[in-house]
Amino acid sequence: MCIVVAMNLIMLGAPGAGKGTQAQKLAAYLKVPQISTGDMLRQAVAEGTSLGIEARKYMDAGKLVPDEVVVGIVNERIRKEDCRNGFILDGFPRTLEQAKALDKIARIDHVINIDVPEEILVERITGRRSCKKCGAVYHVKYNPPKHKDRCDVCGEALYQRDDDREETVRKRLETYRNQTKVLINYYSDQHKLVNIDGNREIEAIFKDILAKLGAE
Ligand code: AP5
Repeated sequence: MCIVVAMNLIMLGAPGAGKGTQAQKLAAYLKVPQISTGDMLRQAVAEGTSLGIEARKYMDAGKLVPDEVVVGIVNERIRKEDCRNGFILDGFPRTLEQAKALDKIARIDHVINIDVPEEILVERITGRRSCKKCGAVYHVKYNPPKHKDRCDVCGEALYQRDDDREETVRKRLETYRNQTKVLINYYSDQHKLVNIDGNREIEAIFKDILAKLGAE
């Protein structure tokens, strides 16, 4: 049984490090929402909203969507009722400006930094398949669905993200190095950083995260 007090968590790590995979498992275990800015932006793109049309230009180029846009989305989302007992931010913050803005609107308890060598990340991302309907994430080799190209959870057809082509992935990794990696020191200085070796089996990583959060 899980008897953890409310926690506000951040998943930090390079593209493909496993933030979404672990955030989904943690969200189910802790019974708190996973808030993925990437998923929210992809939904806006799919719906063709003005936000989506604007965001797509950045996402397709492997660049970050402007801070004020993303901060606005997160600020609105974490005020919702389902976040009262905690939340997991997946893919936010991604710049120092975003982190400073977040400090003004929420208390963060722990920042889970998933570390994976860069040469492994490209293979992980290019083999990723996702479910548009329920957001479940698979990998053709490391975490395949039970039935080829179908989601185990809801049966929907799986798809490959537009930004998971190799040249865009390399650009996203560069963006991470230049704009996001600095957050490791930012949260380490605040004594909130929990370092996790992400180059292991998904279940082993999950158990390690729970142990380090004292949430087993
Ligand atoms: P976003 O969707 O957040 O993408 P990302 O950060 O690049 O991260 P990914 O989703 O690629 O990887 P992940 O770490 O979640 O890995 P996953 O668990 O899927 O952002 C997309 C874009 O939106 C950005 O480029 C930007 O333009 C924009 N954006 C989003 N947030 C923003 C923000 N805050 N500010 C500005 N712009 C923003 O795993 C990857 C694969 O590996 C999967 O196939 C999985 O099955 C597999 N896998 C996972 N763990 C393991 C393991 N232990 N062993 C083997 N395989 C594994």
